[in-house]
Amino acid sequence: MRKSNKKPVEIKPGAYEDAILGFRNHWYPALFSADVRETEVKTLKILGEDVLLKRVDGQVYAVRDECLHRGFKFSTKPECFTKNTITCWFHGFTYNIKNGDLVAIPSDPDSKLIGNRKLHSYPIQETKGMLFIFIGDMSPPPPLLDDVQFGFLDEDNHVAPFHSEEVHSNWRIAADSASEFNHTFIHKEDELVKYWKQPLPFAEKPKSDNPYEGFILHEGPGPKGFTDAFSDVIPVFEFKIECDGETNTLRSAFNPQTDPGSMPLQDVEGILTLPCTLRIGPWGAEPESGITGSYMHYEWYVPIDETHHRYIIAWGKKVSSEGEALKAEHDIRTRWSYLEYEGFNKSDILANEGSQAAYDEPGYAYGEKENLSRIDAYVLTWRRMAANGGET
Ligand code: FES
Ligand SMILES: [Fe+2]
Repeated sequence: MRKSNKKPVEIKPGAYEDAILGFRNHWYPALFSADVRETEVKTLKILGEDVLLKRVDGQVYAVRDECLHRGFKFSTKPECFTKNTITCWFHGFTYNIKNGDLVAIPSDPDSKLIGNRKLHSYPIQETKGMLFIFIGDMSPPPPLLDDVQFGFLDEDNHVAPFHSEEVHSNWRIAADSASEFNHTFIHKEDELVKYWKQPLPFAEKPKSDNPYEGFILHEGPGPKGFTDAFSDVIPVFEFKIECDGETNTLRSAFNPQTDPGSMPLQDVEGILTLPCTLRIGPWGAEPESGITGSYMHYEWYVPIDETHHRYIIAWGKKVSSEGEALKAEHDIRTRWSYLEYEGFNKSDILANEGSQAAYDEPGYAYGEKENLSRIDAYVLTWRRMAANGGET
């Protein structure tokens, strides 16, 4: 881990621009465990690939959702005649769901294809109430630990997955803004900020002449990415807008000088890591009872196709007993999840969807038509790091 001072000219050309369907050879969250019941078949598109999942004897398996015979999508009309198989509805080619092997063809039982052809089978890991899928060609895949948030897999970290939604924006629009300082402008009126009495500035000015300073780089082992530099910015709580002789003063919902807040922004940090993974916190302060935040917010922007990503949200909290885990689960589900999603994350979705049309234009991204200012050091640091596979 070290402090950054690099400038964006070091972005490897093409690599981020080309990652319209995300970066392969990483683990991504696919579904929540509760979404796939025993013997149930589920499908999803992820990084442009159609995947079919099935739970057999408690374990989830995943294969490419496309018959090897003539390409029929199993999910159009899935058929399972034994526990371990998926049969194509079109001509009956039947596959072992556990490894993708072609095991039977009703019209040609002695075919040489049987035993010699297999569907792509995706590695799956189920942990913390979530199903992670490996999209790529590496065998064996790298450890899941490298692709989830710091501390996520810790034994004492109780995780409550609570939201998954398809968002109409390319995944990079969301990743570019993950915990980027100046998008706090969209959160200035959010209910969550008011509930927490969070002295959230609506703008942040870089303190240093070099705005690329201050990020903490994580270059592995473990997740690769960077920690933002909230502590290295000058927060803006009040700003006068003037135009043609008319003025208006913009004010944050809470100004720390006049309204002591629940937790200063400097105590909250956001860590953005590959492949599309944010941890931000601590959150969850309870202003009335003087409790400081101890929850971590996790989110992912999982590429679906060129114009959509799946926005997945979970929260975690360190616990030392089952009772504490139950209490955390209860609090997350009954209070924080609703407030957080309705009163905060919805603004992020609006921002990301509202930017999609521009990024749909050929040549818009990245750097050709955008007009970036020095406040965009965050965006460019992320792009540089992502383009270099986490090498910073
Ligand atoms: S397309 Fe699947 S069996 Fe023919
Ligand atoms: Fe946000």
